[in-house]
Amino acid sequence: MSLFGTPFDAVHDTAVVTGAGNGIGRAIAQALVDEGVRTVFADVSAERVSAAIAASSRPDLAVPWVGDLANMQACDALLATAYAALGEVTHLVHSASPPRREADHAFAVDRKTWQEMHAVNLDAGFHLAREIAKRLIAAKRAGSFLFLTSLHADTPRNLPHYSTAKAGMAILVRELAKTFGRYNIRVNALVPGAIAAGGFVADASLARHIPLGRLGQAEDLAPMALAVLSNRISAYVTGAAIVVDGGLSLTNWFEAPVLDA
Ligand SMILES: NC(=O)c1ccc[n+]([C@@H]2O[C@H](COP(=O)([O-])OP(=O)(O)OC[C@H]3O[C@@H](n4cnc5c(N)ncnc54)[C@H](O)[C@@H]3O)[C@@H](O)[C@H]2O)c1
Repeated sequence: MSLFGTPFDAVHDTAVVTGAGNGIGRAIAQALVDEGVRTVFADVSAERVSAAIAASSRPDLAVPWVGDLANMQACDALLATAYAALGEVTHLVHSASPPRREADHAFAVDRKTWQEMHAVNLDAGFHLAREIAKRLIAAKRAGSFLFLTSLHADTPRNLPHYSTAKAGMAILVRELAKTFGRYNIRVNALVPGAIAAGGFVADASLARHIPLGRLGQAEDLAPMALAVLSNRISAYVTGAAIVVDGGLSLTNWFEAPVLDA
């Protein structure tokens, strides 16, 4: 059998993707339905969900859900929709994150913005993963969860609400990977670099700090996301943080040498 031909079991694998209305979440949700996986496209924006589904290759496999994941009741409503539409949820991608504004430095960020950033990234991610895991464990089914973290889980971003939320997610991934491993539920982080998606207003000059010479696109993340989510390709990968950044994290104040060869 070809190794990459059928990464998913289209009959039994099902997915919930948060933040599926835009950027990286949208690219991953669209790639999942491309692979035949029935997928809930979850986002706070109804317009974005409709457009993401309409632009996918298999709208028939997509289930729309609209709500604010900063609210715990909304997280439960998302799960109820997913179970009603899909039966079981075997794969979770948590990509939703509120917009980040460069002005929200340590003195400027207000309490609401701080709390919303943590609520959507960390609280919703924990709640959704824990609830999905409970059902999978009861049903003795394997699962695979992927959290979109950031290089700024480790390095400051001048946005403390964002970097602390991502740092929390990074250790949450490792906590859950350790706890759920014996039940065959894998939990990993996908760490994007500078991706010209909605959440990051890209300055093109940043490209000169990226060894591969360009900013990333949401579509650069989707193949790796699917590889890590796939129980066929990545059955022995859990608790990992997979960096997809064109080499951005390799850069510092030393320029790369120019080679004569
Ligand atoms: N773009 C980058 O360069 C980059 C870099 C590192 C990490 N990331 C992470 O990757 C993920 C996706 O980033 P992106 O740039 O594609 O973001 P994006 O802003 O393009 O998309 C995020 C989506 O989340 C949705 N959302 C926001 N708040 C929500 C809420 N309360 N409830 C439900 N949905 C909500 C938005 O409507 C949007 O469609 C985020 O977690 C982000 O932190 C992105």
